[in-house]
Amino acid sequence: MQTRVTEMLGIDIPIVQAPMGWIARSALASAVSIAGGLGIIETSSGELDVIEGEIEAMRRLTDRPWGVNVAQHFVRDLEGLFAFLLEQEVSFVTTSAGDPAVLAPRLKEAGVTVFHVVPSVRGAEKAVAAGVDGVVVEGIEGGGFKSVDGPSTLVLVPEIASRFPDLPIIAAGGFVDGRSMAAAFALGADGVQMGTRMVASVESPVHDNWKQAVVDGRETDTVLVNRNFRPAMRTLKTEKTVHLDRENEPATLGLDAMMSTYFGGDLEAGVAMSGQVQGRIHSIEPVADILSSAWAECQAVLVELGRRASRTAGSTSK
Ligand SMILES: Cc1cc2nc3c(=O)[nH]c(=O)nc-3n(C[C@H](O)[C@H](O)[C@H](O)COP(=O)(O)O)c2cc1C
Repeated sequence: MQTRVTEMLGIDIPIVQAPMGWIARSALASAVSIAGGLGIIETSSGELDVIEGEIEAMRRLTDRPWGVNVAQHFVRDLEGLFAFLLEQEVSFVTTSAGDPAVLAPRLKEAGVTVFHVVPSVRGAEKAVAAGVDGVVVEGIEGGGFKSVDGPSTLVLVPEIASRFPDLPIIAAGGFVDGRSMAAAFALGADGVQMGTRMVASVESPVHDNWKQAVVDGRETDTVLVNRNFRPAMRTLKTEKTVHLDRENEPATLGLDAMMSTYFGGDLEAGVAMSGQVQGRIHSIEPVADILSSAWAECQAVLVELGRRASRTAGSTSK
């Protein structure tokens, strides 16, 4: 089964691994690309010298397609990063957290395929006006940086798909398996992006405490912190994030605290971003198994729904 996304990106399975600061590096991204999906390297950590090495590592580890994300709001030197991407001959970029008109047209002019991440119909309109090749449509249930008044994936994806039928869509927020992937296709998407599922994978570099918290967490165990500050983020429910939310205090992203959480396993030091879909994640699995089982299940679900629809059509036409 091909989709506009598999054809455009040259991949076998329409699953894109989410860009995630410090996490979406070559160990995780190459595993996703090798398994047939699309690995993405992050730049939101701002560590461009390290990212350069990660891009070199990607070239060593796989000859399959992969891409880079530019989370504009978090990048100090956008011009430098733009030059860096061209110098590295990156062929696929997702831009996020900012105005699509800033970078997308220039990247496109340089021959790069660009998808912009959008949290609303208005965001999709702006991305289309900026001439992007497609959009990542991200619902509020997803982990990570969020637009506080953003709608859910279920509301957003079909609305954008019907307004822009020629626009390839990667749906993000809540995707974890074949059942949810099949739903994305029914809503009008051409592929899905998975964040939280990838955090709790074998190849993810975060501390096991974080992975286990995702496995143990229910769908109700996330908190949207920074509702009244920027950037709002969906995080794991911890004493700290509940306190920040209840007291309406800003969550600061100090590097030491974040590193203690990410790689030291102290979930109360910083904030660990996680989506509601954690309630559907019950084990830490290798990326190759996540992709192959989701894709096999997705196709089986679609075939079964097709069978049911044709049985219904057959019985009503008699
Ligand atoms: C730990 C974490 C870090 C994230 N960092 C980024 C980022 O740097 N740039 C970005 O565009 N999205 C980021 N996101 C959002 C993801 O790209 C993705 O859209 C989201 O996780 C999808 O929802 P899901 O968690 O339900 O799969 C992050 C998400 C998580 C869980």
